[in-house]
Amino acid sequence: MIRCALHIYPGYEQPGAALAQALGCPTYPLHIHIFPDGESLIRTEGRAKTALLYASLDRPNDKLINLIFAAEALRENGAERIVLVCPYLGYMRQDKAFHIGEAVSQPIMAGLLSQYFDRIITVDPHLHRVSSLNAVFPNIEADALSATGLIASAIRGDTDLNDGILIGPDSESAQWVGAIAKITGQGMLVAQKMRSGDREVKISFPAIEGVSGRPAIIIDDMISSGTTARHCAALLVEAGASRVELIAVHALCDEADLLRLSVAGIEHVRSCDSVPHDTNAIILAPLLAAALTKEL
Ligand code: R5P
Repeated sequence: MIRCALHIYPGYEQPGAALAQALGCPTYPLHIHIFPDGESLIRTEGRAKTALLYASLDRPNDKLINLIFAAEALRENGAERIVLVCPYLGYMRQDKAFHIGEAVSQPIMAGLLSQYFDRIITVDPHLHRVSSLNAVFPNIEADALSATGLIASAIRGDTDLNDGILIGPDSESAQWVGAIAKITGQGMLVAQKMRSGDREVKISFPAIEGVSGRPAIIIDDMISSGTTARHCAALLVEAGASRVELIAVHALCDEADLLRLSVAGIEHVRSCDSVPHDTNAIILAPLLAAALTKEL
């Protein structure tokens, strides 16, 4: 039996192939048949001692059950170790019950995955009140990588952005903006955000006049509906930024949301390829491959 293989969930063929190439390991597609009643039948191909399963958990509900079926099938067929390569890991934000009766999705989902996988590797998970990914997954190996180095390289490689100011749209984004600013040496400005609904936020900036006449680069971990970035951009445009760009690790928004970002004055949106998206511009394969070489 071969040592290691990468099994790719439908939809992730491109980033999966880039990772396999970086690792130099064979790939196999995961086959999913949906029965007329909505149940799914999973079929895996290929056998290896260590199975890497590639799927992000954007739109996660169906994927969760399919991944569990796949992991069990791989184990039945001889895999001794199963690693979930999950560049975007959903359900990280619900780390407490915000209202009485709410399910705390984060630990529930982590507990479920921990029963079937030996290791999980992800990129910039949205950890808020929990200090580390190991605290979310105490029973398996868990690696939280960061795309900040790759994002900093993208900024450095773009002459339009060299004299730009890095913008964090809320206090949580300060960790990513700060890490990137340390590498690029650029100035940064972090806004305050109050959210009152899925698509309702209020953003306020201290000392926004500093952006006047300069490019403003909004950095966030994710673009979900785009509401945060849209409101942030409107204020930056009003304050006289010479151009506004947006770079996010994970892009989850749809086409209509992208259009709204453009209307708000964002000239260019870039994301990492954790979730296949029109804005993908930063390839995560080298980052993921470096963390996975020990599996080969
Ligand atoms: C929240 O704290 C995150 O860092 C993002 O700012 C947020 O999830 C973006 O969501 P949306 O695009 O819906 O405003």
